[in-house]
Amino acid sequence: MEEKKIKIGLIGLGTVGSGVYKTLEAFKNIEVVKIAVKNKNKKRNIPGLDENIVTDNAYEVVNDPEIEIVCELVGGVEPAFDLIKTALKNGKHIVTANKELLAKRGEEIFNIAEENNRVILYEAAIAGGIPIIMPIKTILAGNKINKVEAILNGTTNYILTKMDMQGAQYQDVLKEAQELGYAETDPTGDVEGFDAAYKITTLATLAFKKRISFENVYREGITKVRAEDMKAANDLGYKIKLIASAKTDEKGRADVRVHPMLISKDSTLAHIDYVTNAVSLTGHPIGHITLSGPGAGEFPTASSVVGDILAIAAEIGTTDYLLPMMRCRHDNPAECINILDTENKYYLSLNAKNNKGVIGNIGSICAENNISVESIVQKNVSQNNTADITVITEICLEKDMQNAVKAFEKSEFINNVNSLIRVQV
Ligand SMILES: NC(=O)c1ccc[n+]([C@@H]2O[C@H](COP(=O)([O-])OP(=O)(O)OC[C@H]3O[C@@H](n4cnc5c(N)ncnc54)[C@H](OP(=O)(O)O)[C@@H]3O)[C@@H](O)[C@H]2O)c1
Repeated sequence: MEEKKIKIGLIGLGTVGSGVYKTLEAFKNIEVVKIAVKNKNKKRNIPGLDENIVTDNAYEVVNDPEIEIVCELVGGVEPAFDLIKTALKNGKHIVTANKELLAKRGEEIFNIAEENNRVILYEAAIAGGIPIIMPIKTILAGNKINKVEAILNGTTNYILTKMDMQGAQYQDVLKEAQELGYAETDPTGDVEGFDAAYKITTLATLAFKKRISFENVYREGITKVRAEDMKAANDLGYKIKLIASAKTDEKGRADVRVHPMLISKDSTLAHIDYVTNAVSLTGHPIGHITLSGPGAGEFPTASSVVGDILAIAAEIGTTDYLLPMMRCRHDNPAECINILDTENKYYLSLNAKNNKGVIGNIGSICAENNISVESIVQKNVSQNNTADITVITEICLEKDMQNAVKAFEKSEFINNVNSLIRVQV
């Protein structure tokens, strides 16, 4: 008997959509019957593409009664949200790579999916080609995960790796990354940490089985990281990476954030360079596990999207309730901790007058703000008689550190607060 073909529709035929289309050609049980794009006249480098199935009206895909799975590979909140909502109401299952939509409107689309007994899979949305969603939902389901630390953005990891290797400044490496196509013309979404924040919102929601709202995720990008910070961090045994992290405290409150971080050169994440992504999970009974691999790109991302399509296709017609372990019902919201109430260790770089009493002044300001100093190093006395001073603190309250920074800015001994970067503990 001939195997039933599952008819699917693609919305988006850009980087990811093209990879998905080409990869699906090897699967005879899947037939792409309609593809929506923005510009039908754009030249596409896809051999064998039947232009008769290409439309510039995505509603033709979501309203097509033949289509059982819709792949949304456009990105952004609208029209993606309305297209997915319409498709779900029309009884279609969804595969999406859209991290922004999941972070901002995830709760709504998962509720609509449940109301219509349909599934939404999104392996590609977080860490591209790295399998992380399916493992958390299935083989790691027996764990209580209490900590996630991850490198989730290839562009920023590429920039920081280059700054580290070449001793180059951020702006110079950004320009080079843009020329090579690793960074977009408007890099804001990557370098200001939005992309990683979208991903950690969803990852933390899954890991803690409580919905994290995107507004509660603290976010700081890499634009203020200087070549001098890289060098100082290296001298102290650290690398600087943009780390997306999520952890829960003893009261079950979630601390979810994205910011540059000094991480020990010995840690696994310190060895994740260039555009590679990695996700480290800590929980019981697994202990500690790290998955790493390509976080983006045409084919790595297609690998995740196609895996999701095949998982749904394998179940269609076999059950009335597909993939129960892959469904999302995290309607209980997580209580989140404000960054000001968190405790952290800090790297602080100050430019100070090369006068007697400077170190004493720094020590006094720290002590007045309940901050203990782990180490203090003075370097680079310049011709104008100023020096860079690097301070590593012990663990202290963020609120106290912010007050100390205000005091340093007012101090007659300090010319400038160069940098404040949190240190992994
Ligand atoms: N690129 C990656 O490596 C990667 C990795 C993981 C996740 N993702 C996610 O995957 C999604 C797609 O990313 P991408 O890099 O493939 O983007 P892209 O290259 O910019 O492609 C977007 C596609 O969507 C089409 N499109 C835009 N507006 C549309 C509309 N209103 N109706 C129908 N089609 C429309 C575009 O049509 P035209 O071709 O006619 O312009 C294009 O084919 C995003 O959510 C992204 O965050 C990407």
